[in-house]
Amino acid sequence: MPNLNVVILAAGKGTRMHSDLPKVLHEVGAMPILGHVLACAKALNPSKIIVVYGYGGEIVKQRFADDSIIWVKQAEQLGTGHAVQQALPHLDADASTLILLGDVPLVASTACQKLINQASDQLAILSFNKADPSGYGRIVRDGSGQVSAIVEHKDASDQQRQIKEVNTGMMAMPNGRLVQWLATLTNNNAQGEYYLTDIVALAVQQGVPVVAEITEDEWSVTGINAKSDLAQIERIYQQRYAQQLLQQGVTLKDPNRIDVRGDLQCGRDVEIDVNCLFEGQVQLGDGVKIAPNCVIKNAVIAAGTQIAAFTHVDDAQIGVEARIGPFARIRPGTTLADHTHVGNFVELKNAQVGSTSKINHLSYVGDATVGKNVNVGAGTITCNYDGANKFRTVIEDDVFIGSDTQLVAPITLGKGATIAAGSTITKDAPAGQLTFCRAKDQKSISGWKRPVKIKK
Ligand code: UD1
Ligand code: CA
Repeated sequence: MPNLNVVILAAGKGTRMHSDLPKVLHEVGAMPILGHVLACAKALNPSKIIVVYGYGGEIVKQRFADDSIIWVKQAEQLGTGHAVQQALPHLDADASTLILLGDVPLVASTACQKLINQASDQLAILSFNKADPSGYGRIVRDGSGQVSAIVEHKDASDQQRQIKEVNTGMMAMPNGRLVQWLATLTNNNAQGEYYLTDIVALAVQQGVPVVAEITEDEWSVTGINAKSDLAQIERIYQQRYAQQLLQQGVTLKDPNRIDVRGDLQCGRDVEIDVNCLFEGQVQLGDGVKIAPNCVIKNAVIAAGTQIAAFTHVDDAQIGVEARIGPFARIRPGTTLADHTHVGNFVELKNAQVGSTSKINHLSYVGDATVGKNVNVGAGTITCNYDGANKFRTVIEDDVFIGSDTQLVAPITLGKGATIAAGSTITKDAPAGQLTFCRAKDQKSISGWKRPVKIKK
């Protein structure tokens, strides 16, 4: 493969986003727009990726700090040709360059590869046919259908404005030629800018062939200028993600009602009901079922587990054949072993729960180690926080905790202990015994009448 350089133009201000955040840092599928473009560029295995960024775009640089990117500043936005000129010192003499736009997140590596394949000795541009071509550079072809120039909308004649084939802005060419063409650009045009697109006419003048690849996939060349574009592209991104999941065999009750903001890996026969949101890195094992309206973030959920409706999982691991929810909240640091049950209105935080244990109703279990085969009764609360520090609760194997129990940490309930309902336990409970701590006196008042409403 010939040596490839990729130049990404990202210096535009993005005024129409009406945002303090640079345009290319707005997110699609929770990844910055520029992150998508960089991912596409990397997939092409270039020797260099050069990003042309604008004045004040230091936070763009910081956002991608770990990447092996060459950052080039274009302090004043004098046009796309001027932007590429800023990258010239970094281009390899023997390479080809692919130009990408930093605000086109759905850019497709297949189309890029087609351009690259043709760019060793000619200029390859990516075009598409647009029903309303207004604002775009038009692809002008001669009598024999050969590309002769790109004319920007503002410079185009009425006749040229009728042309529906437009420039996507993506192109590839040999660096030797690019250097030479850029040196001769002028800003003698309607916008007073150095147009990269003028290199097409220069190539034609010099007898260098110009080929236009026409793409059918308009979304893959659509740039983001306003929040309405961002919302539209987000939807397309999500629909495409859903289609990929369907192709892999995942059952989606409605591919229009799933959002993946990150990476979702699914085993065989996974079923996902409507309105679920997956964030970060999520893995669902074989046969996992997710009921409607769940939010699942950075989680590993093993085979056969069922997550009932309205469950929230964040930074947790769940073993095989578990039953979670509905309305459960599994917070960071929690691990649930195989065959565990967590029911409605249960909140777990940094709790490690052993296999076959059950926490089925209305409980808070935080900073706790729960053994195997434990039954945590309804309304059990681990009191892990004294207002300043957090303490752990240890519940050993085979413990049974009656309903409405408070466990004031630090505390250990020994193996096989039974805690009577309604207890406030402040000291360790010995293994194998019944421990209880309740108000002593149970009284009954005969003939007692309930209050009645006073008539006005
Ligand atoms: C450009 C093309 C036009 C094409 C359209 C596709 C030129 C002259 N025109 O038009 O043919 O149909 O894209 O959207 O190239 N940028 C910089 N520095 C600059 C100017 C722009 O980095 O000085 C970057 C922008 O951030 C953006 C890209 O280049 O990512 C395109 O800029 P934009 O202003 O959108 O170009 P258009 O004039 O719309
Ligand atoms: Ca544009």
